[in-house]
Amino acid sequence: MDSVTTDNGLPPGPRLPTLVQALLTLSAPAAVFPAAARRYGVPFRLDLMPKGRRIVAVADPADIKDVFAGSPSVFHAGKGNELLRPLLGEDSLLLQDGDAHARARRLLAPAFGRREISGYRSLVEEVTAQQLSRWPRSGRIRAHVLLNELTLEVILRVVFGVTDSERLDQMRPVVARTVDAGPVMMIGLAIPALRRLWPWTREIRDLASIHEFLDEQIAAARRDPALAERKDLLALLVRASADDAQGPDDEKGPDDTQGLSDAELRDQLMTLLAAGHETTATAMAWSMLELARHPRIQDRCVDEITRGGETDYLDAVLKEALRLHPVVPMVMRELQEPATVGGRTYPRGLTISPSIVLAHRAPAAYPAPKDFDPERFLGDIPTPTTWLPFGGGARRCIGASFAMMEGEVILRQVLERYRLAPVGSGREWPRSRNVTLYPWRRARLELRPR
Ligand code: HEM
Repeated sequence: MDSVTTDNGLPPGPRLPTLVQALLTLSAPAAVFPAAARRYGVPFRLDLMPKGRRIVAVADPADIKDVFAGSPSVFHAGKGNELLRPLLGEDSLLLQDGDAHARARRLLAPAFGRREISGYRSLVEEVTAQQLSRWPRSGRIRAHVLLNELTLEVILRVVFGVTDSERLDQMRPVVARTVDAGPVMMIGLAIPALRRLWPWTREIRDLASIHEFLDEQIAAARRDPALAERKDLLALLVRASADDAQGPDDEKGPDDTQGLSDAELRDQLMTLLAAGHETTATAMAWSMLELARHPRIQDRCVDEITRGGETDYLDAVLKEALRLHPVVPMVMRELQEPATVGGRTYPRGLTISPSIVLAHRAPAAYPAPKDFDPERFLGDIPTPTTWLPFGGGARRCIGASFAMMEGEVILRQVLERYRLAPVGSGREWPRSRNVTLYPWRRARLELRPR
């Protein structure tokens, strides 16, 4: 990194060209953030493309607390996801801010409650068992690839409630291709001249067929006579939005009177697909890599599963994997007016970024931070300012409990069938793609039958 500068009283940061800073931040956040923290201390400043976009990275628990407890009308998150607009649609939770975001969260929340999450479990178990029956009995795999297929199936069946196997066969490759789209595809979609060229024409066609497919699922759910018995998330949202439209007025927030419209529902389903599929697969890939490298930890998980009952240790393994290998390296909040974080006042327009990578490696919270040690999470509930793989505050990942439940189901069934062994050292570097950090070689490991 270049020499230290302080600019307008902002924390110090590199003086590299903004394009270089942007490329480094996007392509290698797991290396850049610790390097910048060592060079400049924390908080530090980054100046990114387009010119004028300034980020201040924070990692101290007190600073993170100020950001997550800050007013959602001041700390906006939607603008950081603007690139995803053509994919997700106008009414996506990831793009909304202020009242529109608060209303959508209120309307989506009933589908993500504790009782609801345990209601999805049996369906997740069924889908996982079906998927694992297609995995090889033994030999080398790229776990990330197989897990991506598994979590996509969970979204299609458990979130969208699709049961028509012919329709599933048609949609699987289209959906996989679309959610796989990288930043170049997204940028191109926003440029009219490029929208007429391949591969954007194909992306637009794919998006249209996914929209048609989602509209079909929504319409089918709305007229399904067995809606009340259905266990999928879409059925729950449709039931909740119908109840909400009829519920007592004094319990509603502003603009809740209509529940979610079909168009809103479609954008939110698209958002759950984009946000909930690869993230979960990636978390599971890191967990499996660590288990393969740590046979004793793996044995302890198996003992716990075999004994039956609570799986606190397995839960601790998942939390530790999410700590050591956060899937999302940082979250962003753009200030709509000046705000004070950690005793410093920052100007309007600046983006404050709680760094998950740095917070998760802080020796004060995690002695020997580079070690994989699930014991850290046994008995202790992690604090929201030191363990933040799902972000925090009003924007905390709405699917966090869903992901933890899904993760537990997957790990349990994998360990019931297989012993995991490392390939080589079993270590893989994090590789950056679409705001996630996944294992460089897609989690190469060896399956041995149990
Ligand atoms: C291990 C898996 C997952 C990880 C690591 C993860 C991580 C995150 C993070 C870091 C955020 C941003 C939070 C912030 O800005 O403070 C987020 C937001 C979100 N996640 Fe997840 N997520 C996971 C799984 C899921 C699943 C399974 C779903 C849905 C079924 C989901 C849906 C969402 C949505 C809709 C948002 C936007 C929330 C909002 O802006 O209000 N995520 N997630």
